[in-house]
Amino acid sequence: VEKIIKATLHAREIIRKLMLFSRQMPPRKSRINVNKIIEEGLFFLENRFIKNAIRLVRNYEADLPEIIADPGQIHQILVNLAVNSMHAMPNGGTFTIETGTTPHEVLISVSDTGVGMSEEIRQKIFLPFFTTKEVQEGTGLGLSVVHGIVVSHGGRIDVSSKPGEGTTFIISLPVEEAEKENLNE
Ligand SMILES: Nc1ncnc2c1ncn2[C@@H]1O[C@H](COP(=O)(O)OP(=O)(O)O)[C@@H](O)[C@H]1O
Ligand SMILES: [Mg+2]
Repeated sequence: VEKIIKATLHAREIIRKLMLFSRQMPPRKSRINVNKIIEEGLFFLENRFIKNAIRLVRNYEADLPEIIADPGQIHQILVNLAVNSMHAMPNGGTFTIETGTTPHEVLISVSDTGVGMSEEIRQKIFLPFFTTKEVQEGTGLGLSVVHGIVVSHGGRIDVSSKPGEGTTFIISLPVEEAEKENLNE
């Protein structure tokens, strides 16, 4: 029974991510403060960080301009990146999340002090179903979903990583793109 439950949960996870990936779930955009969405998301992740001996460092830009985005999808970005970082730090470490701005963008930087990845792996991480993990641990869809969400918000995602040292993802989301969009509220 345990195995059936596990397999079912795994299937649910794949379907959910596939739906997100194929954008069956339409974005519900509204005016959001990214700091607030991150802080709310961390509230749910904090226990898992503690359990995994991961120190959480946050550094928020105080006057972050609002962007027009789907709060649920921004939350999903945070969760997918955080889960990957936890997997990359099986013996604990530090997870750092920072926000910042450029003249036309909001930046979100997410770093860990985990195992990092080789250049060869780094080039494939955004491909759907690419994973280096065991079947139970990963679907290979997490970063494809993140990439899809970032692109659908008109943004960019960059990654730098060093084996044995850690990984940093930087997401830039346009502020002015925001102003052109129609809200569904
Ligand atoms: N923070 C990270 N540190 C090291 N490797 C990572 C990190 N995030 C992602 N990766 C690599 O990218 C691959 C793809 O990630 P993802 O799309 O989330 O799928 P999954 O986590 O299911 O494997 C992972 O299997 C791993 O090899
Ligand atoms: Mg993942």
